[in-house]
Parts: sequence; structure tokens; C-alpha cells
Amino acid sequence: MEIGELLNEALRLVTPTKEEENKVLSTANGIINLLRGELSRRGFGDFKVELQGSVAKNTWLPGDRDIDIFILMPRDKIDLIKNGSIVNTLIDIAVSNNIRWNLKYAQHPYVQYLIGDFEVDVVPCIEIKPGERPFTAADRTPLHTIFVKSRLGDRNGDVRLLKAFFKSVGIYGAEIKVRGFSGYVSELLIIHYGSFMNAVKSISNWPLNGLVIDMTGIYDKATARRRFREPLIIIDPVDPNRNAAASVSRTAIATAIASTRIFLKKPSLEFFKPHHETPGKPPFITPTLVMKLPYPRNASPDTVWGEVGKVLSVIERNIKKQGFKVLDARAWSDETNIVLIMVSLDTLELPPHELHMGPPVNSNAADAFLEKYVNDNNVIGPFIRGARWFVIRKRRVMRVQDVIKSVIRSVSIKYLRESLDHVDFIAINSPDDLNIFDKDLRNIVEDFLFKRPWWLG
Ligand code: CTP
Ligand code: MG
Repeated sequence: MEIGELLNEALRLVTPTKEEENKVLSTANGIINLLRGELSRRGFGDFKVELQGSVAKNTWLPGDRDIDIFILMPRDKIDLIKNGSIVNTLIDIAVSNNIRWNLKYAQHPYVQYLIGDFEVDVVPCIEIKPGERPFTAADRTPLHTIFVKSRLGDRNGDVRLLKAFFKSVGIYGAEIKVRGFSGYVSELLIIHYGSFMNAVKSISNWPLNGLVIDMTGIYDKATARRRFREPLIIIDPVDPNRNAAASVSRTAIATAIASTRIFLKKPSLEFFKPHHETPGKPPFITPTLVMKLPYPRNASPDTVWGEVGKVLSVIERNIKKQGFKVLDARAWSDETNIVLIMVSLDTLELPPHELHMGPPVNSNAADAFLEKYVNDNNVIGPFIRGARWFVIRKRRVMRVQDVIKSVIRSVSIKYLRESLDHVDFIAINSPDDLNIFDKDLRNIVEDFLFKRPWWLG
């Protein structure tokens, strides 16, 4: 297929049907009207209720079930955000209209309404003008919408292609689980590079570090790099004090560079489809320990991921110290029921004995070493090799899971504590050991074992 033809075909995949669009817009408008009525009835008549996010910008993807509605409040009402009373009002409105709802936290709390299979985020913010300092992180969003709508023209399709591309290779979304490219960053990239193909060609030649995209023209590159320390810097045109790409990780940048190179060599519609099965089985199984723990209740995903990261690094550090070689370690979660911590190692169990090096024979520590081991029936030695004392001693712990059990007891964490008390250890030494998992978890573990991204074919 020719590239133009392929992109046309891709555009069909990533553009919602009229029918889906009508459904999204009528759901959004229903809630907007409801909120306007309820808020003015409760004496908040000067609040604006607006459609925001990708639905407002017409850059959402088919199947997306997220609708963003913002309540724009005058600045002298900031207290209603700070003391939670606007959020309580939004909850009251949900309750009195029989709408299922969740309380959510980003930088500040907001309420999610569940309408059919839609998740409608209702976010209070303070209305600011371009150039004004935001009071809350959500305050910039209405300015983003105005900026994107005024600069994007008819290139919504290009944004959709780029978002779908990022999604297919696993780097779409700024949330901590992904640390990739947000919807807004995708829009800025299309505005900056002009089209999907130009964006993809440019990305394939990006440096790994220090790229600056500044459409405001305020910064020179060196100043921007000094001011923002992140590997990718995209100055937010509505707030030059913010790097819109602050959450993009080095791995996400590397993945973007590598996958766009592959796409340009071998364009394929697969890059516009959201889900991909693990493309194969690893030629051999590296010994792997899977820890399966219940997802903690009442904690925001960011908090949980923070703690998971901490646990993972403590585990890695300590098992290395005990003599294991870590080949790869990674955590996964569905953010509702389960957290998986997976570690691949040279072995899941070390031999019963280890060589333990003591001090040089002439050092001050030699006496203590000899005293400790000379009558110890659990060691062979002490003996001299070269200039030092050595013993061969029995290991206290041989199984990696026993090392992990003892170290996780002392990690200081809050939300994962109880989950860790209920951890299941699953040792994988052969393909048969994977049978214990249901289909979904098995896919996650197989992905971890196979490692190769689907787009390498
Ligand atoms: N936003 C942002 N930075 C983020 C997340 C969100 O600036 N890391 C702002 C953007 O203005 C965005 C709005 O919040 O348009 C809504 O957030 P979200 O729903 O995550 O982004 P969308 O643009 O709606 O994209 P998607 O299609 O993924 O919903
Ligand atoms: Mg959205």
C-alpha cells in the first residue's frame, strides 16, 4: 500500500463515526445543561460550565469513554475549591439526580460522573486569562482548548493519527503508569510540525535528550534547558513557566524514536490499532519471580505507583546484595484489583554455600574475623588466599522469595503495607508455570518474559 493510501485507511480507523460522535456530544451536553441548571439553582449562577479536553477539540479517539467538563469559577471563589465545598456540591448534584459518581484526585479533587459507559470528569477550576498565573493546575486547561482550537485548523485527523500511534506503541498518556505523551502534547506536536507525517519524520530524528520546542519564542535553547531539567522540553504556549512535556520519560522518548523509524521503513495499519497481542513466545524462560498483590483501597494511582517504585528498588538492591543477578524488573497494575511485581534473575535459588571474603591478615579487623568464625561449624575455614582471610559459609537464605519477604517487612510505605502482607509469590521456571494465571495476567507476564515490542514484528 502506498503511504497516502495507508494514512487514509488509518484515518478511518482513528476517526469516530457520526453515530459515536452524536452519542458523546449528547451525553456531554446533557451533563452540561444539568450542571448549569443545578448550579444556578444553588446560587452559583456566575459559574461557567464548559466542554473541555479532547472532545471540545475534536481530537478524541473512537472508543474513548472520557469526557472532560470544567466548572470555571471567578478567582474570588478559590475558597470553594480549597475547602471542598464545590466538590461536595457536585456530589450532591450527582446524588439527587441518581448519577453514580467517584471522587478523584489530580492536583486537586474533582468528581467523576458515570453515565452509561462514559466517565465524565467534572473539574472545578479558576478562570484565568492568558499570561496570568494559574491558581490550580486545572486552570490552564480552558486556555489549552482555546489555543489548540485556534491553531489546529483542520488537522484534527493528524492529531488522531499521532495519538493512536503513541497509544499503539504504549507511550500515550502523561500519567505515572505510562510517563508518555499527553493528548495536549500530541496536539502541540502537530501544530509545531504541521502534519502527522512531518511529526513522525522529525521524531525519528529526535535526540534522546535536550530537545526544545518553543512556539512562544521566549527562550533560547540553553536557557530553556537550564530552566527545565526534563529530557523533552515543550514550552506550554499558554504558560511559558511550564514544560508541557515534563512527564515524558527517557524510555518514552526512546520508544518514540525507535518506533517511528520502524514505521517509516515499513508503514503498517497496526500502528493505529490500540491493542496488540504478545507477538510470540520467548525462545527460553529466564527464571522469574512474580509477586501478585491486591491493589490498595483509597489511594490515588500516583501514590500507589510511587510506593510500588520504592518497593521495587528496595527489592532489586537487596537481592543483588545477596548475590543474585537481576536481568530485568518491572511492575504492572490494572489500578483497580492487582499489582504485579516481576523480577527476572539468573536463578531463583542460590547454592547452599558461598565464599565470604574476610580482611587482610595484617589488618585490625583480622582478629574479630577469626574470633567470629574459628569455632563456627557452619563455615569451612578460615583460610588464607592471597593476603586475606576467607571462609566458605552456609547461606542463611537461598530462595529469592525469602530474601524479598524479609526486606519488604522493613520498607516504609503506607498504602501498600497491607497488600504486601497478602502477597502471593509465583516462581516461573518453565512455560507450564504460567498456567496458574488467568488469560489477562498471563498476557502481562508473557509480555514481560518476551520483552520484544510488537512493532519489531
Ligand atoms: N492536561 C494537561 N496535562 C496533562 C493532563 C491534562 O495539560 N498531563 C490538560 C489538557 O489541557 C487536556 C485536559 O487537561 O486537554 C484534559 O485532560 P485529558 O483528558 O487527560 O486530555 P485530553 O486532551 O482530553 O486527551 P484524551 O483524548 O486522552 O482524553
Ligand atoms: Mg480527555
